[in-house]
Amino acid sequence: MPHLLLSGRPVADALLESLKADIKKLDPKLVVVQVGDDPASASYIKQKLKSCESVGLRHEHKHLNEKTTLDELMSMIGELNADEDVTGFIVQLPLPKALQSHVPEVIRAIDPKKDIDGFGAYNIGKMFLSVEFEHLPPATPSGVIEMLKFYKIPIEGKHAVIVGRSNIVGKPLAIMLLNRGATVTVCNSKTKNLAEITRQADILCSAVGSPKMITKDMVKAGAVVIDIGVSRVDGKLCGDVDFDAVSEVASAITPVPGGVGPMTVASLIRNCVTAKKRQMSAE
Ligand code: GUN
Repeated sequence: MPHLLLSGRPVADALLESLKADIKKLDPKLVVVQVGDDPASASYIKQKLKSCESVGLRHEHKHLNEKTTLDELMSMIGELNADEDVTGFIVQLPLPKALQSHVPEVIRAIDPKKDIDGFGAYNIGKMFLSVEFEHLPPATPSGVIEMLKFYKIPIEGKHAVIVGRSNIVGKPLAIMLLNRGATVTVCNSKTKNLAEITRQADILCSAVGSPKMITKDMVKAGAVVIDIGVSRVDGKLCGDVDFDAVSEVASAITPVPGGVGPMTVASLIRNCVTAKKRQMSAE
């Protein structure tokens, strides 16, 4: 089947372009906090800062060492919450091993108005209400929705199957698709007869991080396939979807890299602009 390649770059570029005027006018500032030296995080952060640069968004990278204590990290979060010049900030995940069990506490410490990752309970909770309350949605699911919109792929009435139930991607994506009228099934590593379920999908989204786990036999002919998983195989980025085989049956499919990835960064920058607007109107 000839498929539509859902490239993220033109979508991200269009979104970034649309934000430039507000960035110039409102002059927001984005801060990225990195703890330790996880190589994947370093690469993501580089992309985030490069995109900030490209749209003229003020930004700062606060890099703390691997041995940073919870108290030290919390104190930095306190300072960023209090700093009126900082519009929004993120604490890049994963944290080093010693801090990993404290992620919920760390996220909770971020002022919801500055939580541009949209990971905190306040912003996630509001998303449950309706599209109108998706003020600071997590960047990756938000990027997926933007991509579907750009390529005019309808959501309402479709069966969306999501593989992966993380707080960062799977769960918020499920809510955003529900808000837009999809019938949503969320699968996880314990799901029985996974292929039977994925074969029912009109829109199949995979966010697991297991290379090529979505094989051709798991995809209905004509399905839209969104690959959100990223892993490294022999130093190369690889998605969850066996792209070559699945593209023979899908009607539209995202590549990895170059699919959802660029959208994630653009959505984060949009959240920073939204945060600034909302802070100014004190909503
Ligand atoms: N690690 C992987 N993706 C993300 C993200 O979107 N935000 C943060 N803070 N950490 C991540």
